[in-house]
Amino acid sequence: MNLHLQSGATPLHILKDIEFSIDPGEVVAVVGPSGSGKTSLLMVLGGLEQATDGSVTVAGTAVTGRGEDELAIFRRQNLGILFQNFHLIPSMTALENVALALEIAESGRSYAQIMAAATAALSAVGLADRLDHRPSALSGGEQQRVGLARAIVNRPKLLLADEPTGNLDQDTGARVIDMMFALARDNGTAVFLITHDPALARRADRVLAMNHGRLSPVIQGVPA
Ligand SMILES: Nc1ncnc2c1ncn2[C@@H]1O[C@H](COP(=O)(O)OP(=O)(O)OP(=O)(O)O)[C@@H](O)[C@H]1O
Ligand SMILES: [Mg+2]
Repeated sequence: MNLHLQSGATPLHILKDIEFSIDPGEVVAVVGPSGSGKTSLLMVLGGLEQATDGSVTVAGTAVTGRGEDELAIFRRQNLGILFQNFHLIPSMTALENVALALEIAESGRSYAQIMAAATAALSAVGLADRLDHRPSALSGGEQQRVGLARAIVNRPKLLLADEPTGNLDQDTGARVIDMMFALARDNGTAVFLITHDPALARRADRVLAMNHGRLSPVIQGVPA
């Protein structure tokens, strides 16, 4: 798979000959320098950016070549995405931001069930007492955890996480990561985890390195 983008008059080859797969329940860490293409790859996997050529398949469904509406439904049913800059809706409370990931019509759940699931997800990330806060009234780390709750509330087949511990202290970060590993183990969620944290990368089942748009496996050292 390749991704070409245009910046003004300059054509950019952002992702080059990417070829890889993640098994259900597997945690794959992606490391690499700033600007190397990690977030771009996440966007392509989530169908938020269309690859220039090649194909992307998630949970047996082709993400490439689908319309926006179809993709939105597909994402709500199969994907969890934790963005680098959270992407919370400013006018909505934490609870509403999380509940938004579950559509009544699609999920077959009642309003009360959706609110209960959203409340449970926020409690799991330690925000049970922040349900009614809007993002502007939350710290950066708290916003990140709302983003995580939203990403996991539908128990996704694939979780895409961009620097999930970037704004968190060590303890909170460790808790967030434990939750992701638990989701992989208990729910069979495949996890695509972008991180600059070597300790976190070492916990993954597999590490891939992005360099100038190329993805290559990293042979991990023998653990101490
Ligand atoms: N919409 C766009 N149009 C043109 N170029 C883009 C666009 N989005 C990203 N890029 C470029 O693509 C390259 C890869 O960006 P990307 O965001 O994937 O990097 P990254 O590895 O996630 O970096 P970081 O660790 O800083 O988050 C960068 O050089 C960036 O400037
Ligand atoms: Mg990035």
